[in-house]
Amino acid sequence: MKKYLITGCAGFIGSNFVYYMLKKYNDILLVNLDKLTYAGNLENLKGCEGDSRHIFVQGDICDKELVSSLFAQYDFDYVINFAAESHVDRSIANPEIFVQTNVMGTVNLLQRAKEAWYDTEKKSWKEGKKYLQVSTDEVYGALGAEGFFTETTPINPHSPYASSKASADHFVKAFHDTYGMPINITRCSNNYGPYQFPEKLIPLMINNVKHHKQLPVYGDGMQIRDWLYVEDHCKAIDMVANAGKIGEVYNVGGHNERPNIFIVKTIIEQLCNRLQDDGISEALIKHVEDRLGHDRRYGIDPNKIKADLGWYPETPFEVGIVKTIDWYLENEEWMNRVTSGTYQSYYAEMYKNR
Ligand code: NAD
Ligand code: TYD
Repeated sequence: MKKYLITGCAGFIGSNFVYYMLKKYNDILLVNLDKLTYAGNLENLKGCEGDSRHIFVQGDICDKELVSSLFAQYDFDYVINFAAESHVDRSIANPEIFVQTNVMGTVNLLQRAKEAWYDTEKKSWKEGKKYLQVSTDEVYGALGAEGFFTETTPINPHSPYASSKASADHFVKAFHDTYGMPINITRCSNNYGPYQFPEKLIPLMINNVKHHKQLPVYGDGMQIRDWLYVEDHCKAIDMVANAGKIGEVYNVGGHNERPNIFIVKTIIEQLCNRLQDDGISEALIKHVEDRLGHDRRYGIDPNKIKADLGWYPETPFEVGIVKTIDWYLENEEWMNRVTSGTYQSYYAEMYKNR
C-alpha cells in the first residue's frame, strides 16, 4: 500500500485531489495535514468521511515535531505539498505569512522528509520515495502577446505570492541538487472547479452575479490566464508522482487561454440563461482599479508532460465552466457558509477603495 503525506488538502485543489485518488486507488493511505486557515474547510472533505484510506490531521506544515511524528507513524512513500497561502491580492496586502507558510513550511517538509528517507549509514535514499511540490506558472512572471512558459523559462516572479512559490521551488531543487533528494515540481496554470474559495475570480464572479452585486474587473480586464479544470490538474499530479522522472519540473496547462473579461461575460450569460433572472446583465460589470504589478498574460506549453507522461487536459473550458457553474448552483449552502462571517469583512476591506 502506498502511503502519502498530502498537505493543504482541505483547500480547493487538495480536496479535489483526495476525491480523485480515493476513486482511482483502493490500496492507498492519504494523511492530510492542514492548518485550516480561512481557505481550509472540512466541509470540502465531507464526501470521504468514514473512509479509512483518508486521515485528517489539523496542523501546520511549519511544525517540526508534528511533521516528524507523522513520518515516524506512517513511513510515507510520498509527500505532496499543496499547502500554501495562495491568493495574490492577499500577498500584496500582507506578504509575511506567504514567506512563513510557502517558504519556511516547504523547507520544514523537505528537512523532515530527508531525515526520514535518507539512510545516513548507507549514504543513500530509501527506495520508492518522492517529494512533489505543487507550484505555479506564476513563478515565470508574465508573458507578452506571444510565446508560452516552458520548464526552462527563467524564474522571474512579480507578486509576493509568486516570489514565495519561486523561493520554495528553489529550495526543492536545492534538496535535489545538494542531497540527491528524489523530487518533482509541477507548475500549473489557473485552476477552476468545485470547492474553490470565492476570493478567486471564477467563484467570486459566480457568487456576485447570483446576488446582483457589482463585478469588480481589475483594470481593462484584458489580462489572460490559462484555465485548467481542477480534475485535469489532479490527474497530472498523480501521473508525475508515479512516473515523473526524478528531479524534473513539469508544466501543467492546456491552451485554454481566455481574457478575464471573457470569463466574466461567460458567467453572466450562463447564469442569466439558467436562472432566467432579469437582474443579471453586463451592467453589473465595474472596471475597478488594477491590481498592483498585475501580470498581463500566463500561458503554458504542456509539451513535456504530454510527451513524457502522456498527460493531456480532458476538459475544454466550455465544458469545465458549465460543470463548475452547475456545482456552485447545486451547492448554495456551501457558498453561503464560506461567504458569511469573515469573508464579508475581507471583501469590504479588499474592494472598498477600488
Ligand atoms: P487554497 O488556498 O484553496 O488551499 C490552501 C490550503 O492550505 C488550505 O486548506 C489551508 O488551510 C492550507 N494551509 C495554508 N497554510 C497552511 C499551513 N501553514 N500548514 C498547513 N496547511 C496550510 O489553495 P489551492 O488553490 O487549493 O492551491 C493549492 C496549491 O496549488 C498551492 O500550493 C498553490 O500555490 C498551487 N496552485 C494553485 C493554483 C490555483 O489556480 N488555485 C494554480 C497553480 C498552483
Ligand atoms: P485570481 O483568481 O486571483 O488568480 P491569479 O491572480 O492567481 O491569476 O485572478 C485571476 C485574474 O482575475 C487575475 O488577472 C486578476 C483578475 N481578477 C479580477 O479582475 N477581479 C477580481 O475580483 C479577482 C479576484 C481577480
